[in-house]
Amino acid sequence: MVCMASDRPPVAHHRPQAGRSAPLPKFRVLSGIQPTAGSFHLGNYLGAVRQWVALQESHDAFYMVVDLHAITLPQNPADLRTNTRLAAAQLLAAGLDPERCTLFVQSHVPEHAQLAWVMNCLTGFGEASRMTQFKDKSAKQGADRASVGLFTYPVLQVADILLYQANEVPVGEDQRQHIELTRDLAERFNGRFGETFTIPKPYILRETAKIYDLQDPSIKMSKSASTPKGLINLLDEPKATAKKVKSAVTDTDTVIRFDAERKPGVSNLLTIYSTLTGEGIADLEQKYEGKGYGALKTDLAEIMVEFVTPFRERTQQYLDDPETLDSILAKGAEKARAVAAETLSQAYDRVGFLPAKH
Ligand code: TRP
Repeated sequence: MVCMASDRPPVAHHRPQAGRSAPLPKFRVLSGIQPTAGSFHLGNYLGAVRQWVALQESHDAFYMVVDLHAITLPQNPADLRTNTRLAAAQLLAAGLDPERCTLFVQSHVPEHAQLAWVMNCLTGFGEASRMTQFKDKSAKQGADRASVGLFTYPVLQVADILLYQANEVPVGEDQRQHIELTRDLAERFNGRFGETFTIPKPYILRETAKIYDLQDPSIKMSKSASTPKGLINLLDEPKATAKKVKSAVTDTDTVIRFDAERKPGVSNLLTIYSTLTGEGIADLEQKYEGKGYGALKTDLAEIMVEFVTPFRERTQQYLDDPETLDSILAKGAEKARAVAAETLSQAYDRVGFLPAKH
């Protein structure tokens, strides 16, 4: 069965305090996405962005495009700017609603860099050295050439989360260690300087939305795929997308059945189908009983086209009107700053910084 993250039972810890007659305040969630890829791919969308959209209904949601994180690896300035708008446009096209959530660009809120410095000074060198994502990314570049920024990337992420007193952080499994670090540093700060930060929980997005490469279903769909035929970019020509679905790798058997181990290709197609349409896997197995892989692929290709066509159009509308897009982001940054500035000023005070006289 495929479940969305929003189908989960309510979380067991206490809700933030509310007055007697006031409605219960919502839990706060916060997450970020890097503006480095250009087009989102199907894995990003089904694995993360779609859940962000659902969470804005049930939670007080803060979402940001993390451009400060992006420059931990070299970026071309013009591309960075384009990709930042592109990421925001795609988030809006996917259904984030600036009336229901706070959507902003990280560098528009200077408090992120400011709190990160304080957190850097609470982080042990050895502690930061143990972050596996840093080890992977720095090994790729040649460890000596990795920037100090890449080394403290997780500490900036800690600041992102703590500034908003987030209760939960919706991320993929690969980010679990960074959320653990966030909890450790929040507890360390609170212990040393007095209660200041909410201790956040990871909200790990469901395994079921894990999407695999269409040509090599043993690896996760990612932009670093070995062949572009395995990767579905949402902004590609819908026709090209349909073609990729139709030429997805399956197996020599002809039975349409979910079996991740023995039939990873077909299972991946069923997952995508089910996640996009809401039809259960078992129902799909029944629907395609006695039919070949061709029928499944043709139908899924059509479903994909119906999904990506309006997504591309909506994204393009935002890109064609950068003034509107930028003003949505400016309003988001203003809302975000109101929260971030208050937390930062408390943290500065607790640490013992002399207040600046106005
Ligand atoms: N490191 C996250 C990723 O690569 C992105 C990110 C930056 C983030 N700041 C965040 C995620 C704060 C959640 C909360 O996916």
